Amino acid sequence: MKTKELLHEKIGCIDLVKINRPEALNALNQSILTQFLELIISLESSHARVLIVTGEGPKAFIAGADIKEMQHLSLLEMLNFAKLGQDLTNALENASFVTLAAVNGYALGGGLEIALACDFTYASQQAKLGLPEVKLGLIPGFGGTQRLASAIGIRAAKELVLRGLPLSAGEAFALGLVNKVCEHENLLTECIATSEKILQGSYVAVSQAKQALNASLYMDLEAGLKLERNNFAFCSAMEESKTLISHFVTKKG
Ligand code: CAA
Repeated sequence: MKTKELLHEKIGCIDLVKINRPEALNALNQSILTQFLELIISLESSHARVLIVTGEGPKAFIAGADIKEMQHLSLLEMLNFAKLGQDLTNALENASFVTLAAVNGYALGGGLEIALACDFTYASQQAKLGLPEVKLGLIPGFGGTQRLASAIGIRAAKELVLRGLPLSAGEAFALGLVNKVCEHENLLTECIATSEKILQGSYVAVSQAKQALNASLYMDLEAGLKLERNNFAFCSAMEESKTLISHFVTKKG
């Protein structure tokens, strides 16, 4: 029987997805990208709150797009492959739930692009992160050229992409590419602890704040401020916000 390439499990209210091709360092082929995208869509309709993304095995988060599969793709198929990867990274970035990349090893090429599209990235001390595509005569194709500069600034982004050399977890942390470096054994526990803190907040407020923060990356200030005040007012109309505000005012705690 064929092993499942994408493992999905629930840990309480947290969804955990694992790329499960450790023999290929969890490289992303078209089948995994399609399944992953379908999973994000189904998580949207089941009102998921927090999704942790990680890789199976001791060595890799995701070592990039599947180079062996790409070798046989025509120009048109490469275009569709990149579009599929971009649809997935867009879906992660725009998800109404919070996404957390638990980078447990190599996060290269398309793997780092998945992490970049997540809201947080926690990395194991053993992680290596980079965009080595130029070494294959390619460029990042799952959103890396567009998302990296807003995460770490254009100069650091150019150095990472144009040199194609990976960073250690500590170097990535210093650039702001990862939020936290964890002991390898504790990575998942730390991600779950952060997810549980997020779950204590309001579902509506968290997703509306995420949408407004993302808007700051792509909208002009006027449009972004309009979206912010609309989301702000929308949150205030929710029963949850009315109750929390009333508790504050009446000191019920
Ligand atoms: N695609 C397909 N197979 C891959 C892979 C990838 N991206 N990365 C690793 N593998 C496979 C290897 O071919 C090898 O398979 P075999 O045992 O069948 O030979 C297996 O995984 C283990 O890999 P290594 O033996 O190479 O392991 P290592 O520890 O010596 O090296 C590594 C690890 C430095 C990560 C090395 O595997 C490597 O450089 N991988 C490629 C990384 C890369 O270039 N990623 C970018 C891909 S392009 C991309 O992602 C484009 C985009 O933006 C969408």
